[in-house]
Amino acid sequence: LKVQDYRPQPFIDFTQPENVAAYQAALQKVRAELVGKHYPLIINGERVDTEEKLTSVNPCNTCEVIGTTAKATIEDAQRALEGAWEAFETWKTWDMDARARILLKAAAILKRRRLEACALMTLEVGKSYAEADVEVAEAIDFLEYYARSAMKYADFGAAETTWFEGEENGMLYLPLGVGVSISPWNFPCAIFLGMLAAPLVVGNCVIAKPAEDSGMIAGFVVDILLEAGLPAGVLQFLPGIGSEVGEYLTTHPRTRFITFTGSRAVGLHINEVAAKTLKGQKWIKKVVLELGGKDALIVDETADLENAVTAATQSAFGFNGQKCSAMSRLIVVDEVYDAVVNAFVERARALKVGTGEENANVTAVVNEESFEKISQYLALGKNEGEVLLGGEAPGEWGGKKGYYVQPTIIGDVKPEARIAQEEIFGPVVAVLRARDWQDALAIANSTEYGLTGGVCSNDRERLEQARNEFEVGNLYFNRKITGAIVGVQPFGGYNMSGTDSKAGGPDYLANFLQLKAVTERW
Ligand code: SER
Repeated sequence: LKVQDYRPQPFIDFTQPENVAAYQAALQKVRAELVGKHYPLIINGERVDTEEKLTSVNPCNTCEVIGTTAKATIEDAQRALEGAWEAFETWKTWDMDARARILLKAAAILKRRRLEACALMTLEVGKSYAEADVEVAEAIDFLEYYARSAMKYADFGAAETTWFEGEENGMLYLPLGVGVSISPWNFPCAIFLGMLAAPLVVGNCVIAKPAEDSGMIAGFVVDILLEAGLPAGVLQFLPGIGSEVGEYLTTHPRTRFITFTGSRAVGLHINEVAAKTLKGQKWIKKVVLELGGKDALIVDETADLENAVTAATQSAFGFNGQKCSAMSRLIVVDEVYDAVVNAFVERARALKVGTGEENANVTAVVNEESFEKISQYLALGKNEGEVLLGGEAPGEWGGKKGYYVQPTIIGDVKPEARIAQEEIFGPVVAVLRARDWQDALAIANSTEYGLTGGVCSNDRERLEQARNEFEVGNLYFNRKITGAIVGVQPFGGYNMSGTDSKAGGPDYLANFLQLKAVTERW
């Protein structure tokens, strides 16, 4: 069987009026068909409702409820775990190709419903058109990429051992069992799907717990996977509260692996509890973590200023800085500090604040907890530097109540300041002045995180030095530091940013496999 090559999805061009019109039509369709919908749990292929519910609210207009999901109890989680182990007995025997085909079919369905998925996220988490579109493209890419990677394992993956006279030697790739996938609200379609599709396609069963704020888009894509033919029990859909069902499942002795994307605090907690061996547990749990960042872009005196300002603006304010990859530190060498920072402030001042529906550049942040946290950092930032732009969190905009935070730039922040060290996860940038290039690189590395980073420079030696010494999992030169494309820029950080598992990379599926070397003496 010849595996066809994976190719990333192209993005939609929203400078074309017909594409904007199509998006607005999708918003209307979603308002008519999905807003107000309720997504129950799915356990062993059956839809199960609960007494309590989780509610999705439009962050750009908090009076508007978008829909609800069920809220799983501990008993539901227990049944999901037991049912998934039963389903595993059959699912693990499927051919890799057959499992991969389900992902390919799901990708085809999602392609057809692309704008609906986008529009639902515009309403549920406040994404602008392009931000939502790039994300649904990534979701399709994850399905396609992991499906085709799995097919390659089936094809020749088992043969990679060295000749030895008188014996046949070979490797089997076996799934681990049942795992839990706990995903974030900031990429509630792509990361949710990617984190469950990879373990599933290689034969594991997964209990997927979406983020509390974005259960609807998760329910929407789970329906697509079921429509594509995923058998009952292989994927258990379990919206619920992280500290309740999430904690129950991550600590459970029958959980084989955990894949988590979210905050550093929760990730480290999961790592700790997962390491504790309980009675009846017969494995060391595998933990795959994608955590935060305090990502920096360095601009030196040789850089193309215009290009650097574009890179900084896109990296800092795309989806309101609510990306683990977002630029939250801009490090500029003294010689060009004023020119770069003034141009950056002017560019950011021109950004339009508003709702996702009206396709504003900066929309409301996701929920009250985020809003409160960012507000506290804004107050702190006033003492840690000079506020050059924004600095307020008005909580309403254009007559709509919502979690609005002004795009904010704070200048002359010291490297050790809290706003230069702690992840804020909002449209807030700390600008740091470096003496020269070497000082800039040292400042960039003076963090416990190591996710993304960038350098805008035209000095070849400096770029080569950064290639080796800038401590990040994803490094970009002369462009924005967000928007990794599946297969093109395998994504993931090290240090406190995670286990460097590289989602959308050639080794990612191996996280969910165990290898068995089998020898037969002739
Ligand atoms: N993969 C996303 C990016 O590169 C972040 O999760 O921006």
